[in-house]
Amino acid sequence: MSRVPLAALSLAVLIGCGDDSTVKPVPMIDNGPIELARANDKDPADGVFELDLTAAPAVVTYGESPETPAWAYNGSVPGPLIEVDRGDLLKVHFKNELPDETTIHWHGVRLPAAMDGTLAVQDAIESGDFFEYEFELKDAGLFWFHPHFMSDLQVQRGLYGTILVRGEDEPAFDRELVVVLDDVRLLSDGSIDEYPDDDGVTNGREGNTLLFNGVVNPTVRAQPGETLRLRLVNVANGRFFNLKIAGHDLRVVGTDGGLIPEPYDVASLPIAPGERYDVFVSLKGSDGDTFAITTEPYDRGHGTDKNESMLVAQLALEGSEVQGKPLPIAGPPGNPIEEPEASFSIILGEAFIDGEQKFTINDQVFPDVPDVMVPTGESRIIELENKTEQEHPFHLHGFFFQVIERDGEATPAAQRYDKDTLIVPMMSKLKLAARFDEPGMWMYHCHILEHAERGMMGMVDVE
Ligand code: C2O
Ligand code: CU
Repeated sequence: MSRVPLAALSLAVLIGCGDDSTVKPVPMIDNGPIELARANDKDPADGVFELDLTAAPAVVTYGESPETPAWAYNGSVPGPLIEVDRGDLLKVHFKNELPDETTIHWHGVRLPAAMDGTLAVQDAIESGDFFEYEFELKDAGLFWFHPHFMSDLQVQRGLYGTILVRGEDEPAFDRELVVVLDDVRLLSDGSIDEYPDDDGVTNGREGNTLLFNGVVNPTVRAQPGETLRLRLVNVANGRFFNLKIAGHDLRVVGTDGGLIPEPYDVASLPIAPGERYDVFVSLKGSDGDTFAITTEPYDRGHGTDKNESMLVAQLALEGSEVQGKPLPIAGPPGNPIEEPEASFSIILGEAFIDGEQKFTINDQVFPDVPDVMVPTGESRIIELENKTEQEHPFHLHGFFFQVIERDGEATPAAQRYDKDTLIVPMMSKLKLAARFDEPGMWMYHCHILEHAERGMMGMVDVE
């Protein structure tokens, strides 16, 4: 293990002390292989980020397993990390070199409907074809992108990437890592075990191999005392990660829509498919200490609590103790949506139809779910009810929503922050508020992709 001499460290700190030293991580220790591949900006102008993005078959290696035929954006799984500033314009020249059709959905990004990547707003992009995606990044936070065409298969094969949008007012940290959590079910020959039967459909598919930035059980290196900022996204089809770092609390400072007003501490953090969390950790220990990063048992229904604690990665501390940046104790004030009077309801259900397991919205299977109509600019309460014995991560395209009530109890003001993906507990009723300020056809669905592809999906028609 290489040790960085102190002199070099202080030099690194000095070099890191530019204008934006509160934002850029100080590279004291090389975390090379687990850092995500970064997208290069082809446009030198400020305020515009332009890239070529190609989806194509690729061969990847997961841990000790033989080579895995996968599908990848720009040749890597996860695909590239696109880092921009709030307000930047993103231009993506997309080429589909897959043998199948695809689209790209920009999960969580508020954009014009035509750029949203669903089949409600664009045709599937044929094999060999191009598509230009172009939109402004209006919100700071971590977002991600993935196909919205046979997403259960295409995401499973490796098509996903991240967008990190920086705000001007972010809390200081010593080290930062964008972390993409996934799992994949591999056969002994290295290939991905795709749907041989109905196994795994009811609960959503869980793989036998956990991936942390595409790597099996990697080591995250940091210095004792540092404040580590983890930008987490779960891109798995069905697995909820209940993330824990042994010996450390996690301070949650943000989620899907960016920083939250009141950060809070947890011993472990459940992250459903599609959700993002922004977490600060003050690293305790000394040179040579290692801590397990695990996903802990979590009951999302149907016996999933019997899952064991599983190792995701390790944290290794190296070097002498530093005085870390203080953990954030407050975030920016919230932006509560004024409670509208009009509402519509979405009931999540399950049904066995013609010998097949289906997942329903208001007792219908997509595309038979009637569209909800909302005039542009109006807000609505979404009465969301889960009538099943399992949790579903509800995702709305194009807009954030805020939880205003849980099973009849009003959400405290500080907890009315922006989400686009939310765990709906089993047999529960939630009230959400959303402002539908962008016209178009917008999808909502369960982000357990097996559930979405088997009916739990609908559309809001904003006009
Ligand atoms: Cu990330 Cu419609 O999904
Ligand atoms: Cu579901």
